[in-house]
Order: sequence, then structure tokens, then C-alpha cells
Amino acid sequence: MYRSHSCGELRASHVNTEVTLSGWVQKSRDKGFVIWVDLRDRYGITQLIFDEERTPKEMMEKAKSLGREFVIQVTGTVIERESKNAKMTTGAIEVLVSKLEILNASVTPPFTIEDKTDGGEDIRMKYRYLDIRRNPVKDSLIFRHKVAMEVRKYLSDQEFIEVETPYLIKSTPEGARDFVVPSRMNEGQFYALPQSPQTFKQLLMVGGMDKYFQIVKCFRDEDLRADRQPEFTQIDCEMAFVEQEDILNVFEGLTRHLLKEVNNVEVEKFPRMLYDDAMRLYGNDKPDIRFGMEFCPLIPKGETFGFSIFDDAELVVGITVKGCANYTRKQIDELVNWVKRPQIGASGLIWIKHEENGNVKSSVNKFFDEDYLRFFANEMKAEKGDLMLVLSGETNKVRTQLSALRMELAERLGLRDPKVFAPLWIIDFPLLELDEETGHYHAMHHPFTSPKPGQLALLDTDPGAVKANAYDLVLNGNEIGGGSIRIHDKKMQATMLRHLGFSEEDAKAQFGFLMDAFEYGAPPHGGLAFGLDRLVAILGGQETIRDFIAFPKNNSGRDVMIDAPAFIDDAQLKELSLKLDMKA
Ligand code: AMO
Repeated sequence: MYRSHSCGELRASHVNTEVTLSGWVQKSRDKGFVIWVDLRDRYGITQLIFDEERTPKEMMEKAKSLGREFVIQVTGTVIERESKNAKMTTGAIEVLVSKLEILNASVTPPFTIEDKTDGGEDIRMKYRYLDIRRNPVKDSLIFRHKVAMEVRKYLSDQEFIEVETPYLIKSTPEGARDFVVPSRMNEGQFYALPQSPQTFKQLLMVGGMDKYFQIVKCFRDEDLRADRQPEFTQIDCEMAFVEQEDILNVFEGLTRHLLKEVNNVEVEKFPRMLYDDAMRLYGNDKPDIRFGMEFCPLIPKGETFGFSIFDDAELVVGITVKGCANYTRKQIDELVNWVKRPQIGASGLIWIKHEENGNVKSSVNKFFDEDYLRFFANEMKAEKGDLMLVLSGETNKVRTQLSALRMELAERLGLRDPKVFAPLWIIDFPLLELDEETGHYHAMHHPFTSPKPGQLALLDTDPGAVKANAYDLVLNGNEIGGGSIRIHDKKMQATMLRHLGFSEEDAKAQFGFLMDAFEYGAPPHGGLAFGLDRLVAILGGQETIRDFIAFPKNNSGRDVMIDAPAFIDDAQLKELSLKLDMKA
């Protein structure tokens, strides 16, 4: 038996008990006549004591030889500590060791296994198994487990069935590139790894499963960000005989359950916002509504001021930053430079201050008299002490830029409290999105999303105006889920694919299996998928999903621990009928 108790378990009530513990040496303090060793496992730390009076000399020597991260097994008696440590759950006791066995030695770890480590990101990723021994990483993984368990419990109680779908499939378009896998048995042919189980879950609805979910890996070859990994996990769900309202209610229920069980937070009914309103008020389809700073358009289109920056702009729009009229010249210049950075790309930033003394000052005093500035301040609901920041230009660009500025200011002003949860449904997404580069429309959600009833005719005349039965769930400014009511009619699916630029042959080759299934009594259906990594990170008060993934990839999509991806040898290439010409 390796252990009778865990390292987090012993209390004053165990005094005089004989126990056996196993774990890692966190650290030892050698005072010569007495040695204390902190023994750690997943459950906590227990202090061991060896002393000259009570410990045989030979064992004293062995205890002195223990280095950090040695794996040991000890047997001993629980005794009351002379100086108790109220900060530790096991702080009332220590174990007087009578038997010590070194199960495995350890070389010196490349960074300290402490909550605040000296190890940088790269080294911690290379030795991720050591990083996982640290509380912050270990706790994040346990937290993730708890969320996943609650999800399974809740959905199962609602009669959802977890069904596994295959990983070796054909492309499912979700807007990213596919990762592909060559097939040895089918020369020259490739599987694609699923970007999501979208088509399979729809086929499960045709198969009569009625309510499906799956906690499932998805693979997308796209540029990485703090909230994106090339392989990530979805809570993927689908339901038959439902309308949008049913889906929103069920998954609002799940989210509320998680907030209650995991965070002990009760949330009111989730607000809903039209996509168009989100873009107008926040410049963004995933607004963080924990704070205000809504966009305020300044000038009705067509009015001119003799100020080209306003006159020539498609949109002039500002935000009011509460209590920041006292920003110094230097602080404002810094903000101006911030929006001018290539990542943001604004050409400049106009500021107006409604000062505490009632004066209104601005960077555009030359063009606007005080009356006009007061009019602006009024429009923007700026009170004494507030700062207004205004951008102008092409609508989409300005919205993106001002949205970034709004989030940056909120971050700097501490308005993004991770303990406050502000969920929000965004509904009525456009069905199609214009790709500025190619001039073609593509599906904003995916090609299986149904247009809103009665909008089909618009597809021919004004495709960009067609709205979809599609929705996203936003939490604290992050898209944590998205879904739609699907097309379940073969003809309608064919029409949709034609509008997306698929020839009849391509549509049949890629999605024939789905359209065929629609001919055999496909029920009306719809669903949604949560990004589990994102959901867990946000419930955990963070936004970087990597911290909640046991073995994540770095920003170049590499696993630096196992060193993947890697070249494969010629024999393997040949077996797969692949030829690599790196020069080509
Ligand atoms: P969508 O593409 O919106 O929808 O994905 C659903 C959710 O998955 C998360 N997500 C990601 N998380 C981490 N890394 C990534 N690279 C990544 N990409 C997406 C997001 C997102 O909201 N089949 C549809 C769902 C449906 O229609 O039912 C789908 O996959 O949180």
C-alpha cells in the first residue's frame, strides 16, 4: 500500500495515528538537528519532521539527501505541531517519520514548482508535466473537470444523449482551413479532421436521436490568438422539433446552471440584442456589457461643417469615458498613438473634455465653437468630468477601431471585473457575409443555417440583407457559443449552396449525403455549440484558454513538449503515396 491518506487530509483529529503518505518533495529545511520536508500531492502539502532525538541516524542522512521533486513514501505518526500554520489545511499537524523510502529521485527541475514560479511560458510548456504540478495549472484542470461534469449532468437530466461522431471525415466548413490526414488504403485520398461535428449531429436528428450532445474535440487550421487553439473542445448540441426560442431557453438554462454550481452566481434572464444593434452600439458582435461606453453617432449623414475629417466620413462616432476629463496631454497623446498603431489603424483620435469647472475643450476647437462642443457633449451624455473620444471614417473600420479602444479603456480603468458575469444573446445575424477580397458572399455561420422565414426572396436581390435564424451566446465580451436553426429541406439546402457559389456537382460531391438524408423525413432541427475552453476560462475569471488546457499548442501551433508537428520519414511518406518536394 503506497498510502493510507493523501497529503491534504490530515488534521488535529488524526494526532497519534500511524499513517503512510506518498508524494513529491516540495522543499526541505535542514536545521542540522531537525529536518522538515514539505510533502506534496494533488490534494495538498503535509509537513514531515525528522529530528536527531527521535529519528535514527541513518534515516537522518537519507532525509538530508532528499532533493526537490524526489518521489518518496513515508510512514510515521501524526503529531501536533509546535508552531501551527493557520494558512495550511494540514497546518495543525506534522508527521514524525519512522520509515522513509525514496521511490524515485529527481534531477533539479528547470523552474520552481511554486504558485509564483520563476519559469517563463516557453520553459513551462516544454516541461508541461512539471507545470501541471503547480497549483494554478492543477486547479485550472480540476476546474475544467468540474464544469464538464456539470454540463454532462445537466444535459443528461434534460434527456440529451452523448453520442460520439467520427474524427476521420470529410470537410465540414466552419470558416477555417481543414487539417487533413492521408489515407494509406485509399491512395491519394485524404480525410479531413472535423472543424465541428455539424453534419453528423444533423444526421443524428434525421436518425431520430432527438436531443444530442457531445463534449468533443474540433480541429481548425487558423491563426491563433489567446482564445483560439488549433484543437479545442466544444460542448456540441442539437435538438429536433425546436424553434430558436426553445434552443435559447435550454442553453440559457445550462449556462445559468453552470454559473450557479461552479461560481455560485445567480443571473437574471439573459438579455438579447439584435446583431445590428450590437454593431451600432458596440462596433462588435460580442460586446462586453459589464460597463457602458456605448457608441454615440455624432453627425447625421449629409451635414457638413467645413471640417473634412467629419464631412468626408461615412461615420463619426464617439464614446464617453466617465471621469477622465482630467487626462493630461501626455495621457491623451498616448491614447492617440495607441489607436494609430498598425494593429488598430486609425488615422487619428478627436477628444472633447467636459471639464469639472464646466468648460468644454477639445482637439477640434478650431472647427467647432463652444456651443457646438456642448451640443456634442449633450448628445454623448457627457457630464462634468467626462472625456469624449471620437473616431471618423469608413463605417466598418471605425466601428472595429472604436470597439478596440473601448475594450482597452475598460481594461485600463478596471471595468472588466472577472467576478461579474454578463451573458448576452446576440440574435438575427446576417445569413451571408461579403468577403471583401474575393467579392463573394460566404455563410456567416455555416451553409446549413436557415434564413429567417420569408427572407428567401431577398437572396437574389440583396443577399447581404438576409437575416438568419442564428445566434451567439456572449459572456463578458467573449463569444462562448453559437448556433442556428438548420435547413432541413433538400431544395432549400441546394438553393443555399448555389448562392454560396457551389456548382451543382460540387454541392452534390461535398454535401450530397446530407441532402439525400433530408429526403427521408428530416425533422425541423437546430442547435448550438459552446467553446468549452473559452467557457471554462471565463468562468475561471480569465480569457486565455491555454491555461485551462492540459497540453496546449503555442502561437505557432506547435506542441513544444513532444516537438510536433514533425517531419516523417521517406518510408512513411511512400506508404502514404505522398511525395514532398520542399522546393516546389
Ligand atoms: P462555431 O464555429 O461558432 O460554431 O463554434 C462554436 C464555438 O466554439 C468556440 N471556438 C473555438 N474555441 C477555441 N479555439 C478555436 N479555434 C475556436 N473556434 C471556435 C467558440 C464558438 O462560439 N457547428 C457550429 C455550431 C452550431 O451551429 O451548432 C460551430 O462550430 O466559443
